[in-house]
Amino acid sequence: MERTFVMIKPDGVQRNLVGEILARYEKKGYKLLAMKLMRVTEELAHQHYAEHVGKPFFPGLVEYITSGPVVALVLGGKGVVAGVRAMNGATNPANAAPGTIRGDYGIEVGRNVVHASDSVESAEREIAIYFKEEEILAYEKNVDAWLY
Ligand code: TYD
Ligand code: MG
Repeated sequence: MERTFVMIKPDGVQRNLVGEILARYEKKGYKLLAMKLMRVTEELAHQHYAEHVGKPFFPGLVEYITSGPVVALVLGGKGVVAGVRAMNGATNPANAAPGTIRGDYGIEVGRNVVHASDSVESAEREIAIYFKEEEILAYEKNVDAWLY
């Protein structure tokens, strides 16, 4: 199954948006394969955002992402990498369509609520930064069996 790495960033946690955002991915049908509340260290931030080291916004990005707890997720499903990017919306909330997470909940590019991997290759790289393989679960779902 295709997998992606998603993060609810510190502003999402501080603004009580965790449940709201998780509900969107769940209702869409993506499967929760791993989840943890954690802090991003400076070292993790540099690994995660290696492609942006040296850019003018990088110091601010590191300060933001390390500023408080985040929720790290692995989601699975057909086309999940592109699907979650579409649900998150454009990087700058000012350009993100209404109905997307950034479009609905964000104002500033430097406080854009969520992260998601931009390709299958980045997803596998980012998952390995944040999770041990044994923290990622494989399981079947059967709603009827748990209701009755
Ligand atoms: P990027 O990987 O381009 O965006 P995305 O998160 O949509 O994959 O940039 C990483 C983060 O860096 C982005 O979510 C917010 C921040 N950022 C800025 O603060 N200013 C900018 O001009 C850009 C391009 C990104
Ligand atoms: Mg990116």
